[in-house]
Amino acid sequence: MTLNSGESVDESLLPGYEFFRRIGSPKTVVAPMVDQSDLAYRCLCRRYGAELVFTQMFNANCFVQGIDYREENFQTCAYDRPLIVQFCGNNANILLQAAKMVEDKCDAIDINLGCPQGIAKRGHYGAFLMEELELLANIVSVLSKGLKVPVTCKTRIYKDFDKSIRLCETLVQVIYAVISRIEQSINRILFTRRVPPC
Ligand SMILES: Cc1cc2nc3c(=O)[nH]c(=O)nc-3n(C[C@H](O)[C@H](O)[C@H](O)COP(=O)(O)O)c2cc1C
Repeated sequence: MTLNSGESVDESLLPGYEFFRRIGSPKTVVAPMVDQSDLAYRCLCRRYGAELVFTQMFNANCFVQGIDYREENFQTCAYDRPLIVQFCGNNANILLQAAKMVEDKCDAIDINLGCPQGIAKRGHYGAFLMEELELLANIVSVLSKGLKVPVTCKTRIYKDFDKSIRLCETLVQVIYAVISRIEQSINRILFTRRVPPC
């Protein structure tokens, strides 16, 4: 295939695209929304044409520790695919434990790197992790190694676009190191949704 830059790329080196095609090359995607993206809403969205739907963001700590939190917040069914489950958190092992609980019921695990709210600042997650590349690299590496499903990151776009590219490249390189395939392209693994700059 040929990238926009004109560079030609061996598609077998693009696991992100493989994943994208495996889930049906979705063009209509419903982003995660806290207190909205429950099972009923996701099914409704699918009925009206959504081809890929996210859950709302789940706090990995609460998800791991609380059976009530899990049962109240996460339900799914056969119709509810393809599905990406989103978690927030800053501890790679807890994020992995949470993700393992749902990996057989979804198509990918997303890490929330976009939430700009006070609760995310206090909890040290979401957009407040975007500057912490070492921590992020560890989270992505631990999840990529430990999960059967792909890992995606939903980030904000910096006003300095090159900085956004550098963030994505860092995360992609971590994943490539995990799968022992070193190639360059920001499009390969991560879905980066364009949202207003922080
Ligand atoms: C009510 C509401 C809840 C949201 N919850 C989340 C969330 O849980 N995780 C997340 O990554 N983004 C969340 N977002 C951001 C959206 O996923 C999306 O990125 C944002 O609304 C911009 O997309 P739009 O321009 O299509 O609205 C939320 C947005 C809204 C309006």
